[in-house]
Amino acid sequence: MATPGQKVVLITGCSSGIGLWIAVLLAKDEQQRYYVIATMRNLQKKERLLEAVGEAYGKTLSLLTLDVCSDQSVSECIKSIKDRHIDILINNAGVGLVSPVECVSMEEVRSVFETNVFGVIRMIKAVVPDMKKRRAGHIIVISSTMGLQGVVFNDVYAASKFAVEGFCESLAVQLLKFNIRVSMIEPGPVHTDFEVKMIEQVSQKDYPECDAETLHYFKNVYLPASVDVFQTLGQTPQQIAMSTKQVMETQRPRFRSLTNPLYTPLVALKMADESGDLSVRSLHHLLFNLGGVMKFSMNMLKCLTCVCLRSRTVAPD
Ligand SMILES: NC(=O)c1ccc[n+]([C@@H]2O[C@H](COP(=O)([O-])OP(=O)(O)OC[C@H]3O[C@@H](n4cnc5c(N)ncnc54)[C@H](OP(=O)(O)O)[C@@H]3O)[C@@H](O)[C@H]2O)c1
Repeated sequence: MATPGQKVVLITGCSSGIGLWIAVLLAKDEQQRYYVIATMRNLQKKERLLEAVGEAYGKTLSLLTLDVCSDQSVSECIKSIKDRHIDILINNAGVGLVSPVECVSMEEVRSVFETNVFGVIRMIKAVVPDMKKRRAGHIIVISSTMGLQGVVFNDVYAASKFAVEGFCESLAVQLLKFNIRVSMIEPGPVHTDFEVKMIEQVSQKDYPECDAETLHYFKNVYLPASVDVFQTLGQTPQQIAMSTKQVMETQRPRFRSLTNPLYTPLVALKMADESGDLSVRSLHHLLFNLGGVMKFSMNMLKCLTCVCLRSRTVAPD
């Protein structure tokens, strides 16, 4: 149980990736400022987290079952927490989907929205009444750069993250009146099971509804480019955990945090042109006409960000 002065943090989707590493980082806080309620929909997947968190389990971290897609699961989880008291809610649970849209069933679309959008809304609805009563609280959402800028063949996933951005941007205004902060963490690519699941998803599907030209662009142009982008620009889940902790610990937590500065120009491109054509046409041109240039830029970036080059940097002293 949390001790007086400790902040109670509930995190969704802690069986792997970003959620797992946020839970570990907070539970191992040297000053023990946090009591982490790490939740996952299937507690049989707890071993990775328990191994990473070590002795903090049972002291600054406890586990609860929570499926963000189920009213009953959310209600039972929140009810089991002492006084329903949660200082910080971290909405991390999420699923991805890459595919030409004509090959996606409406059931798959609903399932992405059920987790990434309705799951977040369900969680926020459950914690807000108590936060409002106490006139304190912080709601954090692990969104994505794809909540700000769409990416080809990620149409449904991007739509779900845009939806969450719109929901939170609206809600943040009202909640500020109650001293409740809302913060969006917007990572670019991150090396987690998310990436592995995406590759599995694609390799297991046949795409019979897809015409040959689209399938060629999806498999031979987009997918290799996407693997390159992950390899070159990908962050670690530990880096996202650090960015999240920094946002939690500032006096006036910011609403929006892009964790990867290399993505700032992409968002700026969109904001720079009210017609929206600049980003649509530039991204189209980059992927379909300048594939070679894109590959070259990725390789340049790979070199510039490479550890061996960084180790040659001359220290200021
Ligand atoms: N990795 C990236 O490139 C990237 C980039 C930007 C944003 N994000 C966002 O970061 C968040 C975390 O993703 P990740 O990269 O850490 O991927 P991950 O390793 O696949 O983790 C996703 C987590 O969400 C959980 N989850 C899925 N559906 C759930 C449900 N209905 N109820 C409760 N938990 C559920 C998964 O649990 P199970 O193990 O039970 O499936 C897993 O613990 C997501 O919101 C994602 O959209 C990821």
